Amino acid sequence: MTRTPVNVTVTGAAGQIGYALLFRIASGQLLGADVPVHLRLLEIPQAVKAAEGTAMELDDAAFPLLAGIDVTDDAKRAFDGTNVALLVGARPRTKGMERGDLLEANGGIFKPQGEAINAGAADDVRVLVVGNPANTNALIAKSHAPDVPADRFTAMTRLDHNRAIAQLSKKVQAPVTDIKKVAIWGNHSATQYPDIFHAEVAGRNAAEVVNDEAWLRDTFIPTVAKRGAAIIEARGASSAASAASAAIDHVYTWVNGTPEGDWTSMAVVSDGSYGVPEGLISSFPVVAKGGKWEIVQGLEIDDFSRERIDASVRELEEERDAVRGLGLI
Ligand code: NAD
Ligand code: LMR
Repeated sequence: MTRTPVNVTVTGAAGQIGYALLFRIASGQLLGADVPVHLRLLEIPQAVKAAEGTAMELDDAAFPLLAGIDVTDDAKRAFDGTNVALLVGARPRTKGMERGDLLEANGGIFKPQGEAINAGAADDVRVLVVGNPANTNALIAKSHAPDVPADRFTAMTRLDHNRAIAQLSKKVQAPVTDIKKVAIWGNHSATQYPDIFHAEVAGRNAAEVVNDEAWLRDTFIPTVAKRGAAIIEARGASSAASAASAAIDHVYTWVNGTPEGDWTSMAVVSDGSYGVPEGLISSFPVVAKGGKWEIVQGLEIDDFSRERIDASVRELEEERDAVRGLGLI
């Protein structure tokens, strides 16, 4: 191993996404097959032992790229010198909890984690928030890391992006590799807008290939937007391996770039593009190059799309106002 290992911090390491994610990171799928990684696993004190068990299994897999593993319940230690931070651990909604309670409970997690990233992360740190409500948790963390460039805080809508590709692929009976330029706009929630008006199927406009507005409106959009709930209903637990896979895709694409002729979806800090208020962490179609993302510009947005983007952005504004009211940003 000649390269210096990249420090990768995973919070919620003992959770179900953590279990699916860590082995793929250690095998080289997060950053590349020639990039050694040093893992930092952050958990709450009660779950440190379970995370240590996962660390034992990671050792047992003898991954050539795995340079070391630390397990801790101390956010400062976990984020010290980190290059990639995957914020997966979050407080799930439990019975009787209102939306405000959930936002407040997660504020208690993402505020100190943002502060720890600000205090100790490496200069090139890249942050992906997976824990829900992902966009607003990313906003909280970003607000407490004023010394870290705002474009380093992102939230995950790659799972929604991948779900949209899969649904479209089934509808048009084309392989997923033929599908390009799907876009997810807005919040990682049921209000998100999966957009195929700019997408392509083997080079042809996807909406024209589909040619079925009723399917688009009544089947495709709700299926993608409510897929998380459908998985919970079917599995009795929220998506884990597919979420881990999307987290791998998100970081790999950010670091290594989007393929020529395609883009991806990431929730990133808005610069006001497409009328999304500046500073909100909202999903956009983005291209990545040289380790940086850029919002795809100049797409025509018709009334059908505008209405749906605006609805999801309105929800993000409400979440932002709620966490502001709670003094979390
Ligand atoms: P899980 O309950 O199995 O695991 C969460 C883990 O986080 C637990 O081990 C818990 O101890 C830990 N944790 C809680 N607070 C922590 C803290 N302050 N620091 C470190 N660790 C902490 O949940 P999961 O299935 O792994 O899901 C994790 C999160 O990801 C949930 O919020 C879920 O809703 C979200 N999720 C997001 C997407 C997405 O597309 N953005 C998809 C699926 C799931
Ligand atoms: C998903 O999209 O699968 C999850 O965000 C659902 C959830 O609420 O955990």
